[in-house]
Amino acid sequence: TPTPPPGPLSDSGTKLVNDDLHPYIAPGENDIRGPCPALNALASHGYINRNGIANPAEIITAVMEGFNMDHGVAVYTTYAAFIVDGNLITNLLSIGEKTSLTGRSSSGTTAGGLNTHNTFEGDSSITRMDAYFGDNHNFNEKLFQEFIEYSNKYGGGKYNLSVACEFRRKRFQDSIATNPEFTIVAPRFYTAYADAVLPINLWVDGRQDDGQLDIEAARTFFEGGRFPPDFHRAARPMGANNEMVVFEAHPIEPGSNVKGVNTYTPDHSTPQKLDDLCVQYTFHVENTVRKMYPNPEGPLLESLKINLGYLFSAVKDKGCEELFPYGR
Ligand code: HEM
Ligand code: MG
Repeated sequence: TPTPPPGPLSDSGTKLVNDDLHPYIAPGENDIRGPCPALNALASHGYINRNGIANPAEIITAVMEGFNMDHGVAVYTTYAAFIVDGNLITNLLSIGEKTSLTGRSSSGTTAGGLNTHNTFEGDSSITRMDAYFGDNHNFNEKLFQEFIEYSNKYGGGKYNLSVACEFRRKRFQDSIATNPEFTIVAPRFYTAYADAVLPINLWVDGRQDDGQLDIEAARTFFEGGRFPPDFHRAARPMGANNEMVVFEAHPIEPGSNVKGVNTYTPDHSTPQKLDDLCVQYTFHVENTVRKMYPNPEGPLLESLKINLGYLFSAVKDKGCEELFPYGR
């Protein structure tokens, strides 16, 4: 059964998080890792189960404790992903591929894991290829070399907000030009900008706290899926701060390549509203979730209602209206 999300951290300053209680242990053969380098690191340091399977409350606690992710952002992101990629009956999510470790798949719940393409994971990632090219979750060295090139060109050798603005645009343009199935609609339209700034906000050591991520630390997170030696989490809770700066530098419209490469066509069904979490919440519930679960019954129905309530708890204080697509 679902457990309620934890509250915010009581002590939310910087501190050593790569500590003796959380040593890095490389994933074993049966341990699952996926497209989110941060969750990979939390698993490999034991902030969540090292096998890469966790429930939403555990993930929220881990991203706050290990990275100082803002409580509201942590709750929203975790439930938005869990509801579409998790096993709603067993309350478990795979941070990578679909696996029987999250429980029976015959229970009517999708339980695809975070690798599932276009439920939450999506195109034009920073260091992972588009699913069209065959692997949407492993680190890709060629992409990281481009990341370094841009960090040298626009950031004086660091990954910072100026680099994020240019590299975000480049990754969209690359996908438009090379991926006939490129699509960037909700929820990926929203997460693509967040992902560009999270490394600036949450991977710069909290004692440094200057928004300048060095390339070696970036590689340790993106490729290694681990904390740098002596890593101290961010100085204060952070989320997708400054994503609007990245968006406004080179705004794009949600859309897709509709007839092969270079046929990018805006799709106005996804609201182009990065700064309005109520709109994103409403779209997720009414479109993404309802499409996935049009007629849930029994325990699945009960779980959906409860987990949608937890999702809403993250946007409640933004004045959003709660939605009950499956009744109260
Ligand atoms: C990417 C899930 C927390 C940093 C992703 C992706 C997923 C995901 C599914 C793949 C998106 C894509 O690139 O197509 C989650 C969930 C979280 C979470 C459910 C729970 C709160 C975090 C935190 C950080 C983070 C705390 C930073 C400390 C990133 C970055 C990427 C990413 C930088 C982009 C990777 C790339 O494009 O190469 N996340 N994430 N995430 N996540 Fe997370
Ligand atoms: Mg991706």
